[in-house]
Amino acid sequence: EQLKGAVTFEHVSFRYPGMSSYVLKDISFHVRPGETVAILGSTGAGKSSILQLIPRLYDPTEGAVYVDGMNLKDIKMDDLRKRIGFTPQESILFSGTVEENLAWGKSDASLSEMKAAAKDAQIHETITDLKDGYETKLGQKGINLSGGQKQRLSVARALIRKPNILILDDSTSALDLQTESKVLDAIDEYKCTLFIVTQKLSTAKRADKIMLIDDGKIIEEGTHDQLMNTSALYREIAYS
Ligand code: CTP
Repeated sequence: EQLKGAVTFEHVSFRYPGMSSYVLKDISFHVRPGETVAILGSTGAGKSSILQLIPRLYDPTEGAVYVDGMNLKDIKMDDLRKRIGFTPQESILFSGTVEENLAWGKSDASLSEMKAAAKDAQIHETITDLKDGYETKLGQKGINLSGGQKQRLSVARALIRKPNILILDDSTSALDLQTESKVLDAIDEYKCTLFIVTQKLSTAKRADKIMLIDDGKIIEEGTHDQLMNTSALYREIAYS
């Protein structure tokens, strides 16, 4: 499947159900299989709203989204879930064991698959240091883990599926630069398409495409080098 990992937005506008104003306004872009896309923009710009349309948490009000070359509406939800790994801004952990949390949504995951994903997400050693390792029970919402640990656990959970498309919505914000860079190096090996919301210049630099979002629109698009040349706004972000 040649288009495995491709994502296209075609004139997508979106407003949340029951709301009168649009939070996304005529968004169009095409991402090729295997590309890394960094999404930057101030709070409330619409970054999460864009990403939520890919796993169909919401449908566009107007326009269409294509994944792996198919209109999302023509993909069965079960099938779509296998193609996409999505870690929302707030990690969703529950009060089961680490293992149960990792296998959530993929109950047939083996322990060795979990460990491999946990290593890639730089959380394996933290887990083995816990009292009962992978069988340690997490408190409600993973209460006994730090923010960055929760994020890495969520990333590991997404990696277990070996998705064609991985969406990290601010899911590495609590990681230091070095840890984040290790996680991203490991993700490179999955050869998946990656969308990553970030505020870190180091992450933007490694992207094939940076999208700068403001007020529900893509206001700049390009690589780091391109935007450094062409975008005063990007330079402002880069130097801040
Ligand atoms: N919004 C909304 N209803 C929601 C979520 C968001 O009306 N359930 C609105 C927000 O108030 C905002 C706009 O949608 O005006 C875009 O929000 P979002 O996509 O979450 O923006 P982000 O760029 O992701 O902001 P942040 O960095 O703060 O996550």
